[in-house]
Amino acid sequence: MTLPERIDIVEVGPRDGLQNESSTVPTSTKVELVERLARTGLRTVEATSFVNPRAVPQLADAAEVMTRTERIDDVSYPVLTPNLRGYDAAVAAGATSVAVFAAASESFSQRNVRASIAESIERFAPIVERAAEDGVHVRGYVSTVWGCPFEGPIAPGAVHDVVRRLADLGIGDVSLGDTIGVAVPSEIEPVVGPLLEFDADLRVALHLHDTRGTALANAWEGMRLGITTFDASVGGLGGCPFAPGATGNVATEDLVWMCHRAGISTGVDLDALVDVAQWITHEIGRPVSGHVARTRLWPWTELDQPLVP
Ligand code: HMG
Ligand code: MG
Repeated sequence: MTLPERIDIVEVGPRDGLQNESSTVPTSTKVELVERLARTGLRTVEATSFVNPRAVPQLADAAEVMTRTERIDDVSYPVLTPNLRGYDAAVAAGATSVAVFAAASESFSQRNVRASIAESIERFAPIVERAAEDGVHVRGYVSTVWGCPFEGPIAPGAVHDVVRRLADLGIGDVSLGDTIGVAVPSEIEPVVGPLLEFDADLRVALHLHDTRGTALANAWEGMRLGITTFDASVGGLGGCPFAPGATGNVATEDLVWMCHRAGISTGVDLDALVDVAQWITHEIGRPVSGHVARTRLWPWTELDQPLVP
């Protein structure tokens, strides 16, 4: 079994984590969250979404979050942009990296972006074109890869088709979303394997929600297959307002802890990250849903060291 020496984590807490919050989170707290996460060693912190504020009221302050955040060199702060209008607003607020989002299920696509899969991808073409002119990086998400709350199981072929259409537009970074957290490790290879083979330029990431407790196991399987980019959310925050029952992403600190103990580096300071997890969950009045931030209430930390010297 070959495991990577290092993985890259895309921290999605400020976006995926907060988009589903019922309580109002002050803009200053969001800004502090993004800034604190960037200081833990994370190289990518997804900051917010430039979507219809009536669809996602929690992120209506996207422009303010972007302009008020003090950025660190070498850290990327991508934002979600469903259409050219969102892209223009994001770039005006200083974004240099954006993410478009499609789905592998028609029903979810309609509920999420009020468009078919094909229509949603058509909206991405002008974004990709403009981004190439502006030197802005574009990532593509595919949701409901392992299951849809409205249609049930999704055939891997349907996922491959959407990924191909994104790749045809020139999107080389694609994140596969287990939106409602139904995947188990044996289902990762049938989706990911053919993608890793069909285009050497395609970089596949996993975006694993932990609704049923399988996200870490799925991430491990992804690493075994050669994936080196994983999305995660501090404190295990998150969920999609348009996917009933969806809960948070794999907690970033749990992923970091597992990797460090297995000798896989992440570049992240686990202690600093746990502090952020405990702080933000306290701020928004939620229990930490990850494991490590809870066990860190114990004083012993030697078990966090790699097993293999
Ligand atoms: P629509 O209703 O089809 O668009 O929305 P429209 O063009 O008819 O516009 C409707 C209204 O929205 C208009 O305002 C537009 O101006 C406004 P009105 O004239 O009624 O006052 N509008 C916008 N406002 C601000 N920014 C924009 C924008 N676009 C239109 N960019 C749209 C289409 C996609 C915009 C809408 O359905 C929407 O915003 N949906 C939100 C989707 C969303 O944010 N979902 C959650 C993120 S995806 C996710 O969580 C999954 C992921 O984590 C991976 C995984 O877990 O699987 C990524
Ligand atoms: Mg998500």
